[in-house]
Amino acid sequence: MVGPLHMTNSTLTPIIDVHIDPSDIEQSLRDDVCEGLTATPKNIPPKWFYDHTGSELFDRITRLDEYYPTRAEREILVREAASIVEISGADTFVELGAGTSDKTRALLDAATRHGRLKRFIPFDVSEKFLRNTSIKLASEYPSLEIHGVVGDFDRHVELIPTGGRRLVAMLGGTIGNYAPGPRARFLRSLMSIMAPGDHLLLGTDLVKDPDRLVRAYDDAAGVTAAFNKNVLSVINRHLDADFDVDQFDHVARWDAESEWIEMLLCSRINQTVHVGSVGLDVGFARGELMRTEISSKFRREGIERELGDLGLEMVDWQTDAAGDFGVSLSRL
Ligand code: SAH
Ligand code: AVI
Repeated sequence: MVGPLHMTNSTLTPIIDVHIDPSDIEQSLRDDVCEGLTATPKNIPPKWFYDHTGSELFDRITRLDEYYPTRAEREILVREAASIVEISGADTFVELGAGTSDKTRALLDAATRHGRLKRFIPFDVSEKFLRNTSIKLASEYPSLEIHGVVGDFDRHVELIPTGGRRLVAMLGGTIGNYAPGPRARFLRSLMSIMAPGDHLLLGTDLVKDPDRLVRAYDDAAGVTAAFNKNVLSVINRHLDADFDVDQFDHVARWDAESEWIEMLLCSRINQTVHVGSVGLDVGFARGELMRTEISSKFRREGIERELGDLGLEMVDWQTDAAGDFGVSLSRL
């Protein structure tokens, strides 16, 4: 485990704890690549999308016509911010997978108006984005202590600073990028940073017409395709691999049984990829699919049950007017 590197706090300067350093990234990517590229079928975990380029591509995705989740969730948060702040009574917000914390500003605005919020803790694996977000927020919200944390959901949640009456938020449908087993484990780990009376705010994309879902993950401009393929460039750069990005096609498909969208990369030809830093040669057959992400779509009853199993009581449930996206507020 890498110890936190503290930047000092002064007026308008956020504190940033960094729990992932470059050697840690390389070791962890090496482990995931060795395991995922030797498995059948091949897979790469979605957290590797988010280098700086991937984070910028995701930001572009959020503005695409086809990608409705960001707009739908923003509609809910803007409408419900005051009520969420009031119900939670929080003096500390934690945001998991904060990215640009763009929609979160609706909550921060309502909370600073309300006057109780003292501290905002954005948490993300993408260091440069987290730093930029923290610095911008520190100047936009001078009355708040901004304490950014660079870490991995699966390893560093327990290192999030403690204290305060908390609202822990995971927005954008990011929880859907976990399959059910790992999702339950991750949610259980969140209980270690929450105390009775704290609240969890969870944004979840909802089951809907599969054609709309597939379009949201396979946009006409090809931004999602570039986001998907970027993971190959991340592996090339960090692990001295020689993926030819142009020899893979982006695929998005709906799995009706699991109720998730799958993103995959399809090999256009028979090819062998060399991963230099681990001395691994990986054969891809023409048409072979490698999974890079699942994005689960939810129903209210399922979420309520999963959270209930952890001792969380859903105290509020809101959707956008079209019923595309749900935001739940649950109390521990
Ligand atoms: N909350 C924002 C961003 C969602 S994108 C929104 O609603 O638009 C998912 C975010 O989670 C990205 O910022 C990404 O860098 C981060 N992320 C993905 N996997 C992660 C992991 N394993 N640990 C920490 N952050 C992760
Ligand atoms: C971050 N996450 C919730 C996005 C999603 O919709 O599953 C990532 C994404 N993948 C493709 N487009 C967006």
